[in-house]
Amino acid sequence: MAGMVDRCPTGVAGFDKLCQGGFVRNSDNLIVGGPGSGKSTFLLQFLWNGAMQFGENGLYCSFEPDIVDTLNDAMAYGWDFSKLSGEGKIKFMRFAPQTSIEDLKSELTSVIARNNIKRICFDPISVLALNLSEKGKIRQTIFDLSSLMKRLKVTTIFSDESLEEGWISGVSNGDWTKTDILRFLSDSVSVFYESGITGVSDRAVRIAKMRRTAHERKAVGMGISDKGIEVLGSPGVVTEE
Ligand SMILES: Nc1ncnc2c1ncn2[C@@H]1O[C@H](COP(=O)(O)OP(=O)(O)O)[C@@H](O)[C@H]1O
Ligand SMILES: [Mg+2]
Repeated sequence: MAGMVDRCPTGVAGFDKLCQGGFVRNSDNLIVGGPGSGKSTFLLQFLWNGAMQFGENGLYCSFEPDIVDTLNDAMAYGWDFSKLSGEGKIKFMRFAPQTSIEDLKSELTSVIARNNIKRICFDPISVLALNLSEKGKIRQTIFDLSSLMKRLKVTTIFSDESLEEGWISGVSNGDWTKTDILRFLSDSVSVFYESGITGVSDRAVRIAKMRRTAHERKAVGMGISDKGIEVLGSPGVVTEE
């Protein structure tokens, strides 16, 4: 029934308004964008708000070399995760890119159950695919991982930096990247642009798809400040609140 979809609000200023209140609960969602486009910031903000505003525990799974960098980035936005971490509300885990999918799944299953995790982020999922050579294997791995997350009733965000210019402009050159399959499998895809395409701001975000959601389809302006990400209202319109 319309309006009955349970939402998982991001709490990111302006974003939830674009999509009827947030991500669909227990869905898997993809954030795709080039380096510096704000993907990690969005993920951290989603987890911070989850714990601070919505009473939902979170897990941040990093495939980057150093998790300390991530924690320092968060601190610069005023999000001190060490306290939440001490209280068991947020967990940070680092996985080596060569971690097997079986190890990843069993580790995640126990951490999610033990800590009552409701929100999980994988940053960036493209790293996991690096050592998987065949397309079929990547598809299976990603499919396995997102089905497990759904069974465990968590709302998932994957970040993916393997962005092709052609995909941004909507004209594919036929050169699909390894993790393109995520765009088909995910329940939602949001594209982050690190240069403005709306003419009113220096960054933008476009929700390309979100199942079960009447969402804004145009790119809208976005900003990053020392408070994190703010989405700036309707397309081409900067709203003052
Ligand atoms: N205090 C700030 N004010 C304005 N912009 C900032 C601030 N802190 C970080 N940024 C911007 O955010 C970017 C970091 O985004 P990040 O979330 O790490 O991107 P990604 O994960 O997509 O590579 C920086 O490159 C910088 O442009
Ligand atoms: Mg990042």
